[in-house]
Amino acid sequence: MDVLKVAVIGCGGISNVHLDSINSSKQARLIAVCDIDQERAKEKAKMYQVPYYFDYRQVLDLELDAVHICTSHYTHVEIALAAIRKGIAVLTEKPMATKLVDADAMIAAAKDSQVPLGVIFQNRYNHSSIVVKDIVETSQLGKLLGCRMAVHWFRNDAYYDTSDWRGSWITEGGGALINQSIHTVDLMQWIMGDVESLQASIANRGHRSIEVEDVVEASLRFKNGAVGSLYATTCYSYNADILLEIHGELGVAIIEADQAVIRINGEPAKIIQPSKDNQFLGKSYWGASHGTQITKFYTSLLTKSPVEIDGKAGRKALEIVKAIYYSGDTGQAVTFPYQEDLGFLPNPLTPSRKA
Ligand SMILES: NC(=O)c1ccc[n+]([C@@H]2O[C@H](COP(=O)([O-])OP(=O)(O)OC[C@H]3O[C@@H](n4cnc5c(N)ncnc54)[C@H](O)[C@@H]3O)[C@@H](O)[C@H]2O)c1
Repeated sequence: MDVLKVAVIGCGGISNVHLDSINSSKQARLIAVCDIDQERAKEKAKMYQVPYYFDYRQVLDLELDAVHICTSHYTHVEIALAAIRKGIAVLTEKPMATKLVDADAMIAAAKDSQVPLGVIFQNRYNHSSIVVKDIVETSQLGKLLGCRMAVHWFRNDAYYDTSDWRGSWITEGGGALINQSIHTVDLMQWIMGDVESLQASIANRGHRSIEVEDVVEASLRFKNGAVGSLYATTCYSYNADILLEIHGELGVAIIEADQAVIRINGEPAKIIQPSKDNQFLGKSYWGASHGTQITKFYTSLLTKSPVEIDGKAGRKALEIVKAIYYSGDTGQAVTFPYQEDLGFLPNPLTPSRKA
C-alpha cells in the first residue's frame, strides 16, 4: 500500500480543505466523493475528476483505505461505524459525535476491528500550540495555576437559516460550544490536563431562530488544582482571534489565533510565530494545520503506527462540552468522568423554528 485510496463523504464547506490536502498529497489518491446533495457531489467530482455518489454505503463498497467524514455532526457516528465494519480507516471532522455513547461506540468498534480512527483537531498542530504544550510539559511555567479561554465569533441568522442541521440539539448537538469553540476547549484540555469538575451556564441571546446556545460560560477545576475560565459566543461583531492563556507560578503563555506570547520569570516576552509551512486552505479562523493533521494521519496508516489524535483523544473535548451542556441545562456542577445519561438532551433555549 504505497498510495492510500481515499474518499470524502460530505461536500460542504469544510470538504474543500480536505480535498485540497488530498490533492496535494503524495501519500493518497482521491477515489470518490459523496454527498446527499446531488449538486454538491457533482461539483466536487467535476473539480477533482473522480466519480460521485449520493449514498455513502456505495462509497464504502469501493476498494478504499480511508474515508474523510465531512458531514453534519449527528451523521458522523453512523458513517464511521459503517466504514470501520468494512475495515476502512476513518478520519472524521470534529466533533466526533453529538453523544458520548456514540463516541464510545466508535472508539470500541475501531479498537475491536483494529481499524484506525482519527478526529480532526487541526489546531493542535499549530506551531504555537506545540511550543506552549512543550513549555508546560517541561515545567517552564512551574506549577499551573489557571487558564482562561475566550472565543468571540460572529454567526448571522443566515448561517443558521440556510442550514438544515445547525442550531438543533439533535442534529448539531449544540451551538457556539460544540461547533465553533470545541477547538479551543480541546487545546485547553490538551495543554492543561484533565478536568476534575465544572459548573456552567448556557444562553441564547442573539439567534432566536435556533434552540441551542450562542453564549456559554464555565468555571472549571483541573485535576492538577488549577482553575479555568471559559467564555464563548457567536454573538460578537466579527470573528475575533481566539484566546487561550495558561498561567503558572513562573509565568504565562498566551495563544492568540495561531501565535503565542510567552513570558517567564520576568524575562523579555518570546513571540512564537506560525510556521511558514502551514498554509490557509480555508477560512483563516479554521487555522492552517488541516494539511499537517491529514499528512500525519496518512503516515500513521502507511507506517502502521498509532494515530496521534485518535478516538480517545478526540473524545476528551467532547466530554467537557457535554458536561457543560448538562451543567448549563440543569444548574448542577459536574464531576469527571462525566457519565452522560443515554437520553439526555438539553431543553430548547428559545421557541426556535428548528426545535
Ligand atoms: N475543523 C474545522 O476547523 C472545521 C471547520 C468547519 C466545519 N467543520 C466540521 O466539518 C463538518 C461539516 O461542516 P460543514 O461546514 O462542511 O457543513 P456543511 O453543511 O457545509 O456540509 C456538510 C455536508 O454533508 C452532507 N451530508 C449530510 N449527511 C450526509 C450523508 N449521510 N451522506 C453524505 N453527505 C451528507 C450535506 O449534504 C452537506 O453538503 C462538521 O462536523 C463541522 O463541525 C470543521
